[in-house]
Amino acid sequence: MKWWFAIHSTVLLLLGQLHQCSGQLHPQEPAQYRRLPSLRDQAKILDRWRDERIVHIPALLEKHGIDAWLMSQREYAEDTIWWSIKDATEYAPHRRTVVLFHRNTSSLAGQPNPLRWVDNTGQLWPELRETLEGYDPARIALNVDKDIAFGGGLHVGELEVLQEQLGEKWMSRAINQPMLGIEYVAGRVPGQLHYYRDLQETTWALIEEAFSNKVITPGHTTTEDVEWWYREKMLTLNVSTWNHPRVSVITPESFPGWSGTKDMIREGDLLHVDFGISAMGMHTDTQHLAYVLRASEGEADAPAGLKAGLKKANRMQDIVLSKMRAGKTGNQVLRECLDQMELEGIEGQVYCHPIGDWGHAAGAVIGFTNMPEYVPVLGELPILPNTYYSIELYAYHFVPGRNETLRFRIEENAYWVDEDKGWEFVRGRQERYHLINKTSPNVSSYLYIQN
Ligand SMILES: *[C@@H]1O[C@H](CO)[C@@H](O)[C@H](O)[C@H]1NC(C)=O
Ligand SMILES: *[C@@H]1O[C@H](CO)[C@@H](O)[C@H](O)[C@H]1NC(C)=O
Ligand SMILES: *[C@@H]1O[C@H](CO)[C@@H](O)[C@H](O)[C@H]1NC(C)=O
Ligand SMILES: *[C@@H]1O[C@H](CO)[C@@H](O)[C@H](O)[C@H]1NC(C)=O
Ligand SMILES: *[C@@H]1O[C@H](CO)[C@@H](O)[C@H](O)[C@H]1NC(C)=O
Repeated sequence: MKWWFAIHSTVLLLLGQLHQCSGQLHPQEPAQYRRLPSLRDQAKILDRWRDERIVHIPALLEKHGIDAWLMSQREYAEDTIWWSIKDATEYAPHRRTVVLFHRNTSSLAGQPNPLRWVDNTGQLWPELRETLEGYDPARIALNVDKDIAFGGGLHVGELEVLQEQLGEKWMSRAINQPMLGIEYVAGRVPGQLHYYRDLQETTWALIEEAFSNKVITPGHTTTEDVEWWYREKMLTLNVSTWNHPRVSVITPESFPGWSGTKDMIREGDLLHVDFGISAMGMHTDTQHLAYVLRASEGEADAPAGLKAGLKKANRMQDIVLSKMRAGKTGNQVLRECLDQMELEGIEGQVYCHPIGDWGHAAGAVIGFTNMPEYVPVLGELPILPNTYYSIELYAYHFVPGRNETLRFRIEENAYWVDEDKGWEFVRGRQERYHLINKTSPNVSSYLYIQN
């Protein structure tokens, strides 16, 4: 057993799980469950981040040649952008909430930005018309994009109301510019990284505990048991999730999908988890692999063939990080990655996405599981520099001991450091298997072919 797993499974759990230490841990050290600030302090922090982001909107409007950005929404039928501009203590918008961002010029210079109306009497419409008359915006962005969620959050009923209330004069000035929503939602601020590291560490700590003797007994524990263990455990850590955890036994048939496999976990299994946590307006999305030692046969480590598969997937991560550069489209990066993999004789698939305000956040995707070489619309967007990305992929590798080709699926979250360093993983990456070392009366039925 590797020393860090030995420490993890014995000493640490005895020491308690809320060890507070500063500085970034080396990813090969056991992860700790991190304590977040009180909810009251979190609200102050979140509002500060939001203010730091909103200040860029006038410049964003200018960049795209737009004078005003108008959103209209009702409680429970809100614009996607709502969730990235609201106060920390707000939930759904009240009544009908209309938000107007402007460029701080002419009649609206010095006015709040955005202007906001909350109304259920209709009184807002004459006020809005009067505001527009004074400001006279030539181009008004509405979130009506057909393909991109972050530029398409205006509900159809709200569009009809805007048409009725604003009339031809203003509606003829309406335009669709999804990059407004994408660039705003994708933007990170420096203060977030510290807390994002904590969320990453808690994510790793959850995986290290789930994929240990503490949670899994071969022959007794199912993949679904582990999934629900994650859900319950997250409650105790004051974090939630944006996606039900998916735990799988990896076989040649298991493909990345929307659920885990429904299996009894047995000795010799290659296990996989795909899950993320949510807190402080941020999300993680992580996939790790674990190996269930044949403890009843005294096996001491994962087989070499499995280690080689993980190593190949690690190499693919290096390739993706080296090719991702702001300004390239997602499809360009995808093509360059696939070309480099071909040169190195690596087969596999790449499907990366931005992560941040949402698990699948705004911006360019680099492949989809069902679109391995080219993605319309979302793949044609440019990579933005100031974002977080989830590097999600698998390498195919033939494992001689099993006479099988498996998909080695891993995922870690990266952030843009600077021009010199490029992208780095927020907490490093998995390079060794999590090992489950527990015997059970149920002996594996898996036929193992010796190397
Ligand atoms: C697995 O557990 C057994 C029994 O506790 C122990 O003797 C052995 O060293 C462990 N193996 C590994 C690889 O940790
Ligand atoms: C979760 O919140 C409760 C209530 O504030 C607190 O007592 C507990 O220590 C928190 N747990 C963690 C892991 O932060
Ligand atoms: C625009 O107005 C808002 C709110 O009054 C202010 O916080 C922001 O700094 C202004 N932006 C510019 C570019 O002047
Ligand atoms: C390995 O698998 C292939 C095809 O799945 C089969 O033809 C072959 O006999 C297997 N080899 C061994 C040693 O079982
Ligand atoms: C595993 O062993 C337990 C008893 O230890 C038994 O109840 C259970 O049915 C067995 N499971 C399988 C799949 O054989």
